[in-house]
Amino acid sequence: MSKNVVVLLFFVLFSCVFGSYGHLSSAGAGAPNKMDVYRLPGDTTPVSYELDLTPDYNRFEDDVDYDAEVEILIDVRSTTSTITLNCKDILIYVVYVHEKISEDNVDVIEVRNDTENEQCKIFLKSKLRAGIQYVLNIEYHVNIKVNNMEGFYKSTYNKKSEHKEWLLLTYLEPIGARRLLPCYDEPSYKTPFNISLTRPRNKASRSNMPLYKSYYDKSARETRDVFVQTPPIATHMISFVVSGFVSKTAGTAAGESPVYVFSDVDRMDQLRYVSGEAPKLLSAMEKFTEVQYELPKLDLFAIPDFKSDAMGNWGLNTFREKYLLLDDMSSSKANESGLSMVQREMARQWFGNLVTCSWWDYLWLHDAFAAYFQYFSMDSVRPPLIN
Ligand SMILES: *[C@@H]1O[C@H](CO)[C@@H](O)[C@H](O)[C@H]1NC(C)=O
Ligand SMILES: *[C@@H]1O[C@H](CO)[C@@H](O)[C@H](O)[C@H]1NC(C)=O
Ligand SMILES: *[C@@H]1O[C@H](CO)[C@@H](O)[C@H](O)[C@H]1NC(C)=O
Repeated sequence: MSKNVVVLLFFVLFSCVFGSYGHLSSAGAGAPNKMDVYRLPGDTTPVSYELDLTPDYNRFEDDVDYDAEVEILIDVRSTTSTITLNCKDILIYVVYVHEKISEDNVDVIEVRNDTENEQCKIFLKSKLRAGIQYVLNIEYHVNIKVNNMEGFYKSTYNKKSEHKEWLLLTYLEPIGARRLLPCYDEPSYKTPFNISLTRPRNKASRSNMPLYKSYYDKSARETRDVFVQTPPIATHMISFVVSGFVSKTAGTAAGESPVYVFSDVDRMDQLRYVSGEAPKLLSAMEKFTEVQYELPKLDLFAIPDFKSDAMGNWGLNTFREKYLLLDDMSSSKANESGLSMVQREMARQWFGNLVTCSWWDYLWLHDAFAAYFQYFSMDSVRPPLIN
């Protein structure tokens, strides 16, 4: 495939996301078409989110339990007295709505679950006016009892010392974000996210973006980590990990984003290969697309319990262990499949994250590009591995 063809397809993907808003508002007036109710009505749209999570680390069994608060800045596209969000198994405690500039409150009458459509509806006493921005503040609680390696989940592993260790992580594609927070969980609604969360002192957290600051809360004996704001991102690509993992990184040239490869400290020796090769794959993608990798860093995590092969969240990719943990005993086949899986998720940083298709039907395009680059870039970096 020539470079021009790829650049052309890149723009096709762009039109994928920019062409989306028009047909989102079909359920606004009159009786909604039966299929449309699964879609958000489009009368309000998100501008940015601030998400703050406080997992309960004391009652930690197999389930995941947390309190959270989300502040969503919204645009009103057509006058309405109902705000519809995606929610799944979220217990909403309280919702406050106010106009952004005047700070006038809008009273909330009721919050209703629409379980079948995985939505919740916030009914207001007065109408929101079109063209005005409002701030939506939601305090809520989530308890995930069944661990199916989706949403916000816990992965466990055995340390050499025989005791069991855990890490907490997200896996949100395709529609897991609505289990993490009430949100506009459709891929066309890309907005900046400010993420913060608490963690125990002996663990660290990582997210799409680097850490902005942390503070230690003496009374809770926990640390709150605040991350730098993301660029506009699709809800299913937001991500974080709380773990005791450590990382290896190869030095990068000035102006290049470092790649950090994470695993449990017992297996750190096995990270040498991927951590050495990954930065080369990233710069091969930059050279080819002539678009610099957008985020300040890229993390690759080897996860003990993982439901697919890998997930290419923006700036924080997660993998089955076998793709990242390689050593002298690894076959050349294992080395090849490890690197090519890394390459695949790297391609998704451009085709999927930087540019995102507006609806799930087209997600195969992200994978198609990823698959193409899986071979292209590998071939340019490590020709002997593929023939
Ligand atoms: C809405 O759903 C949540 C989560 O399933 C549940 O805890 C809550 O009781 C429901 N609220 C109402 C009013 O039914
Ligand atoms: C989000 O984070 C940025 C810094 O990364 C900060 O400037 C901004 O004020 C934050 N937004 C909110 C709503 O807190
Ligand atoms: C696979 O990679 C590891 C780590 O660099 C290396 O030690 C090993 O020799 C490689 N396997 C083969 C068959 O080349």
